[in-house]
Amino acid sequence: MSKRKCSTGMDAYVQKTPKSLEFSKVSQHVMPGGVTANIKFFEPYPVVMKKGTGAYLTDIDGNEYIDYLLSYGALMTGHGHPKVLDAIHKQMQEDGTLLFGTPHHLEVKMGQKIQSLYPSMEKIRYTNSGTEATLLSIRLAYAYTGKYKIAKFEGHYHGGYDQVLLSVNPPVDQAGPPRKPKAISESQGLHPNHLENTIILPFNDLEATNDILTTAQDQIAAVILEPIQAGYIPAEQEFMDGLRKITADLGILLIFDEVKTGFRLSLGGAQELYGIKPDLTALGKVVGGGFPFGIVGGKEEILNRSAPSAAADVFDSSQSKHSGARDVLFHSGTYNGHPTVLAAGLATIEILEQEIQQVFKRTTQLKKGINKLLSAKGIHSKTVGRGSIFNLIITDKENIKNYRDLQKSNFALRKEIDYHLLAQGIYTKPLNRYSLSTVHGEKEIEKTLEAYRKTLQKL
Ligand SMILES: Cc1ncc(COP(=O)(O)O)c(C=O)c1O
Repeated sequence: MSKRKCSTGMDAYVQKTPKSLEFSKVSQHVMPGGVTANIKFFEPYPVVMKKGTGAYLTDIDGNEYIDYLLSYGALMTGHGHPKVLDAIHKQMQEDGTLLFGTPHHLEVKMGQKIQSLYPSMEKIRYTNSGTEATLLSIRLAYAYTGKYKIAKFEGHYHGGYDQVLLSVNPPVDQAGPPRKPKAISESQGLHPNHLENTIILPFNDLEATNDILTTAQDQIAAVILEPIQAGYIPAEQEFMDGLRKITADLGILLIFDEVKTGFRLSLGGAQELYGIKPDLTALGKVVGGGFPFGIVGGKEEILNRSAPSAAADVFDSSQSKHSGARDVLFHSGTYNGHPTVLAAGLATIEILEQEIQQVFKRTTQLKKGINKLLSAKGIHSKTVGRGSIFNLIITDKENIKNYRDLQKSNFALRKEIDYHLLAQGIYTKPLNRYSLSTVHGEKEIEKTLEAYRKTLQKL
C-alpha cells in the first residue's frame, strides 16, 4: 500500500478500501449506482462488508470496523447474536418449515408481547417492513375517518412511497416559510397529486401546527410523525402533549411512526417515555431481529376495520356477486407473520429485557466522551439523542428542535470527521446517526474515543 500522506478524510478512506472501489466498478454494471437501496451509497463509493461478528464488521479489504450504523439501527443485539441464531434454528427445526401460510403460535406470542409493552396497540397486524407498516396505518386512518389527506412533519421519514416521500430533506430555499412549510417531492416519479394531499407541518412548533391542522381538519385523516425526528431530535414534551390534544379535538388520528424508536428508546418506545397514547403505531427494525419486519397496532375499533368476514376474501371469485371484501380494509401478504422472523424478534426482545439499560449506559458514556474531546479541541458541537441513538451535530446553536435548525449545522466538518473515523475502523455512514447495541462494551467505547482523539489531531 502507498505511504502517501493523507490530506483529507476521504483520501484516508480511499487508501484503505481499494477492493470496495473495485467492487463498485463491477456492481455498477448490475445495479443502478451499484446499490440496491439508494441509502447504501456514499461518495466516492460505499464500503463493502463481508463479515459481521458482535459489534464488528469486516470489509472485503480485511479492515475491521466497530459498527455504529447497525443496519440503520435494526440490529440492537449486534451481528449474529448466539441467542437470536439459536431461536432461528430452533424455529426451523421444530416447525419443520420456514412458512406455514396459516395462522401459527408465534404470531400470537409476539402479539401478546407487543400488547404488554405498548398498551396503545390493542390489536396488531404484521407487515414485512417499516414502509408497509406506515402504509397500512395510513390506509386504516383513511378508512376510519373517511378523510383522504394526511399531515406529516418536515424532515420526518416514513418509508419510500408516494404519500410520505415529501419534505424529508428539502432544500430550505424552496421549502417555504418555516412555520408553513411547502410540500417538496423527494423523488422522481411521484404523482403530483401527493403535493396536494400530504400537508407538511413544522416540528416542535405547536402553534403553527395547530393553525395548519385546524384549517384543513375536515380533510386530514391523520398526523403521522416520528416522535423523535430521525431517531434523535426529540419532540418537546409540551409539543407532544399539545399535539395529542389538538388531534383528538379535531377528529384527526395520531400515528406514531416508531420504526426507529421502538425498543431503542425504551422497551415501550417513545410513547412510553412521553406518556402518550397514539391512535396507531408502526414498528419495525429492531423488533425484526435483523429480518424484514413491521407491526401496525392501535385502537381495536380502528384495527378491526381489517377483520375479514366469511364473505370478505378478495381473491375468492366464487363470492364476487355480493363481495363483502369491499366492506373490509384490505390487508394481506404472503410473508406476513413469518415464523422465522417472529422467532428472531422474540429472542431479541428477550435479550433487551435484560440488557437495555446497559445499552443506554454505554450510549451516554460514548456521548460524554465525544462531547469532551470535541469541546477540548474548541469545536462547538453536541450529541443529540436519547436512549440508544444519537447524532453528532457540529453547531453552536443551543437547541436543535427541527429540520431547519439542523440545516444550519456544519455538515462539511462532520463529514470530514466521519471519513477519518471510517479510515480508523469506526463505521457509520458519513453524516448518519450512531446506534448502539447490547454488544457494544467498554472496550468498543474506548477504541472509538481513541479514534476520535486521532481524528481530531488530523483536522
Ligand atoms: C421512522 C421510519 N419509518 C419507516 C421506515 C421504513 O422502514 P423500512 O426501511 O423497514 O421499510 C424507516 C426506515 O428507515 C424509518 O426510519
